[in-house]
Amino acid sequence: MSAKRIVMSSDHAAIELRQALAAHITSMGYEVDDIGPTTPESTHYPDHGANAARKVASGEADLGVILCGTGQGIMMAANKIPGIRCGVCSDAFSARMIRAHNNANILSLGARVVGEGLAIDIVEAYLNAEFEGGRHGTRVDMIMALED
Ligand code: RB5
Repeated sequence: MSAKRIVMSSDHAAIELRQALAAHITSMGYEVDDIGPTTPESTHYPDHGANAARKVASGEADLGVILCGTGQGIMMAANKIPGIRCGVCSDAFSARMIRAHNNANILSLGARVVGEGLAIDIVEAYLNAEFEGGRHGTRVDMIMALED
C-alpha cells in the first residue's frame, strides 16, 4: 500500500455515508483525516471540496475521498485546485480505472446516488488500484500541462 493518508470531506448531504466510509477505510489500514462537517446544517460543497483538495495538493494527504449529494459539485470544486485530478464514480470499474489510467488523487461519490454497500465497493476498488504509468503517464502529464 503506497498511499497511506486519506483526507475526507463532504457537504451536509453526505455526512452519514462519509462517516461510514471513514470507518471502513480506517479498517482497511489507512490513516483517515476526516475534516467534516459533522453537523447537519446546510453548507457549501465548494468549501469542503477545496479544503480536502488543498490537503492532497500540499502533500499532507496522499489521496482524498469526498462526497456531496451527487458527487458532482464537490468534484468540480476539487478540480479547481492545482495538482488535483478528481473523478466521480458510481461503479467499481470506473473507480479502479481513474486510479490505474488517470492517476486520480481524489475520488468523489454521490451520497444520493449510491448506497453504502456499493460505496464501499467503489472505495475499495479505488484504493486497491495502482497507477499503471507508461502511456497513461504521458496522458496524465498532458492533463496537468493544461494548468499552465
Ligand atoms: C446539496 O443540496 C446538493 O446540491 C449537493 O450536495 C451536491 O449534490 C451538488 O453537486
